Amino acid sequence: MGLAAARQMPQEEILVLSGRTLKKLEKAVEELEKAGYEAHAFACDTSRREDVEALAAYAAGLGDVCKVIHAAGLSPAMASPEQLLRVNALGTVYVNRAFRNVMNHGVIVDVSSSSAYVLPDFVVSNGLCDLAERDEERMVRHLLRICSLVPDAYKKAGLAYALSKKFVIRYAQLCAARYGREGIRVVSISPGLVATDMGKLESGEGGRMLAYTAEHRMGTPEELGWAIASLADERNGYLAGVDVLCDGGAVWGRRCRKVHDEPARSGSSAFALQG
Ligand SMILES: NC(=O)c1ccc[n+]([C@@H]2O[C@H](COP(=O)([O-])OP(=O)(O)OC[C@H]3O[C@@H](n4cnc5c(N)ncnc54)[C@H](OP(=O)(O)O)[C@@H]3O)[C@@H](O)[C@H]2O)c1
Repeated sequence: MGLAAARQMPQEEILVLSGRTLKKLEKAVEELEKAGYEAHAFACDTSRREDVEALAAYAAGLGDVCKVIHAAGLSPAMASPEQLLRVNALGTVYVNRAFRNVMNHGVIVDVSSSSAYVLPDFVVSNGLCDLAERDEERMVRHLLRICSLVPDAYKKAGLAYALSKKFVIRYAQLCAARYGREGIRVVSISPGLVATDMGKLESGEGGRMLAYTAEHRMGTPEELGWAIASLADERNGYLAGVDVLCDGGAVWGRRCRKVHDEPARSGSSAFALQG
């Protein structure tokens, strides 16, 4: 999704692509250079604060940093609950803070997930976001304790993923309130199931949500790339401190699911509102 968003950036912007695997980044840089961009690769593991700080410094060395798209993440099938919390949740703390320090103005788009919407808001409070900044080990232990309530290993990872992504939304909101006066706008986006490498890996469990989407299909990386790029575009400058749910209608389709089959395009329909 990050690369799909990069393909939608204005050609005059210098692009820095990041992730853990340099080979993958170099291939993407080659593709973008062929398309006329100036692009650079910089390897970084977002669960390591010093890596993220080095990435921010590298980007700032190339010019004014004006857009940060934080799409790095791991899914339940890829990692343990602890890794999910460290990469997805703490990674967001490191990215937002490190880039705030090098930005004079601009936008940060944090990528969350529609999985966050299965949890009530209170599970991730502003207090927990503060704790992540003050004592990250305590914050991770707190969320791992919640995960330990679930017996099944995949469901444990699923809960850790949902918690990590709930954290992304709440932390982005907090940063929007804190950084706004400095001219830095912060928003988050929550994709539904999208046909990237990760989406294909999760399509078994996550595929159940497809029945509730408007078109009964996965999103494409291009659709999400466009949504992310438009959130980062300054023409959307009044969009801050919110999460944009970009899931083909799945979350609300499920909440408003039909109790009776609706006759196609005629007659009245009955819906049950859930939750
Ligand atoms: N695809 C979906 O259905 C879906 C749904 C909802 C939300 N999302 C979220 O959308 C974002 C983008 O996912 P995607 O679908 O584009 O997945 P993807 O194709 O697997 O891309 C994720 C990228 O993150 C990088 N990454 C993973 N861990 C990292 C780490 N510790 N440090 C730095 N980079 C790391 C990976 O590169 P390396 O492995 O080389 O590091 C990879 O390039 C993720 O945050 C994901 O949770 C995806």
